[in-house]
Amino acid sequence: DDGRLFEDVDTYINSLFAVEDGVLSRAIERTKAAGLPEIQLSPGQGKLVYLLAKLIGAKRILEVGTLGGYSTVWLGRALPEGGELISVELDPDHVAVARETLADAGLEGTCQVIEGKGLDVMSTLTGDFDMVFLDANKDGYPAYLKQAIRLVRPGGLIVADNVVREGAVLEPSKVDPNAIGAAAFNQALASHPQLEAIVLQQVGIKGHDGLAIARVKD
Ligand code: DHB
Ligand code: MG
Repeated sequence: DDGRLFEDVDTYINSLFAVEDGVLSRAIERTKAAGLPEIQLSPGQGKLVYLLAKLIGAKRILEVGTLGGYSTVWLGRALPEGGELISVELDPDHVAVARETLADAGLEGTCQVIEGKGLDVMSTLTGDFDMVFLDANKDGYPAYLKQAIRLVRPGGLIVADNVVREGAVLEPSKVDPNAIGAAAFNQALASHPQLEAIVLQQVGIKGHDGLAIARVKD
């Protein structure tokens, strides 16, 4: 079936373009061993956000939703000397795993995990960020977007994972707050006068979902 083919092609692409080194493999192991949900970015998605950060020459990145720090390593590796990444995570168990992973990656100097609610922490921050990557609770995405627009510099990027949810955003059920949040986020992204955006539908080893990419206008 198509699902199997999409997974096989994703695995093929990852094996060519996003081969995990020891640090990233151990990040996955650590996530599993600690019983964290195994919902981190795929290797190819990690490579994509890494490339986006490099393409805009990002020096200051904000991530919302650290989980075990897998995406944080990809993003942190895109930073130049003197760059900075702040990642926000609510769950203290996730924070502990992520800090171990960042130490293992030698990124503890540039990548800082702040424990707290995404919106609370974002509200305390000031710009300019070159890039914000949203990957936390999807029902919070509309509120995170408002903060992201405040924090990102003109020409900067807002990227968000999980904005398709197997198509649940087409007709979000009242009992699926994540789909409702993702759909509201997409609507806001599409209509915001300061943004130019697109959603990439994605299929592969993480199933069927999507990644939003938005540029803040100059
Ligand atoms: C879920 C969250 C994610 O960030 C993801 O990439 C996949 C799934 C979830 O909460 O189910
Ligand atoms: Mg995600």
